[in-house]
Amino acid sequence: MSLLEHIDTNRLPQHIAIIMDGNGRWAKEKGKLRVFGHQNGVRAVRDTIEGAVELGIKYLTLYAFSTENWNRPKMEVMALMELLVSTINKETKTLMQNGVRLNAIGDLSSLPAKCSKQLQETMIKTADNKNCTLTLALSYSSRWEITHAARQLALKVQAGEMNVEDITEVVFAAHLNTSEIPDPELMIRTSGEFRISNYLLWQLAYAELYFTPKLWPDFRREDLYAAIIDYQKRERRFGMTSEQLN
Ligand code: IPE
Ligand code: IPE
Ligand code: MG
Repeated sequence: MSLLEHIDTNRLPQHIAIIMDGNGRWAKEKGKLRVFGHQNGVRAVRDTIEGAVELGIKYLTLYAFSTENWNRPKMEVMALMELLVSTINKETKTLMQNGVRLNAIGDLSSLPAKCSKQLQETMIKTADNKNCTLTLALSYSSRWEITHAARQLALKVQAGEMNVEDITEVVFAAHLNTSEIPDPELMIRTSGEFRISNYLLWQLAYAELYFTPKLWPDFRREDLYAAIIDYQKRERRFGMTSEQLN
């Protein structure tokens, strides 16, 4: 029996965020270069997207490259950027077939021109797709995003466009990169690390966290199902008591 049959499709998370981690270790285990791990992570991305769309998950956000990842060896950074361009290019057809809209968050201006061009092209092409919004976090870090939002708000106050009292949680959230996306209910991290690594700190405030030792290139839709089943067993209390919920 597939894990799929254990999922209650009436109680699906609307938004799943993933930290795709462990490509380097996966390659090392096989005596290969780190880049080999990144290349093999693409299959996991494809299978996860297809699995999510089939289920009816409306938003999927993947951490593809963090602000801190710029500090990796130049060769690896270059290889990752190349892989990004070729993957988005190759997968545009699959996104269209699955009705997936591509979106991106992060400091996109810091990406190589070739990268942002490919990204823009596919975002425009997929803009009307309705099944699922796939957001890639690229050159993204949450502290960067929050600082950026604070600056924008400060500028608006300085220009007299708004008052300090107008800055509410809702207004603040509207100045984040994710203003168009609901907060994730479920966050998955692969590779057995128990940390957030500067990912969606604001948005994950009440997300359920799921950690798996699987390395990203081995992750498949069945692993996504397992995470969702685990999520559906949890009681999300939002500060209240069990009795209040029932
Ligand atoms: C995740 O895998 C991919 C990126 C961060 C781009 P890693 O490259 O971090 O793999 P490990 O964690 O070193 O095994
Ligand atoms: C987080 O993974 C970033 C991405 C998956 C893109 P890292 O491998 O960079 O995280 P740390 O440095 O081990 O926390
Ligand atoms: Mg890592």
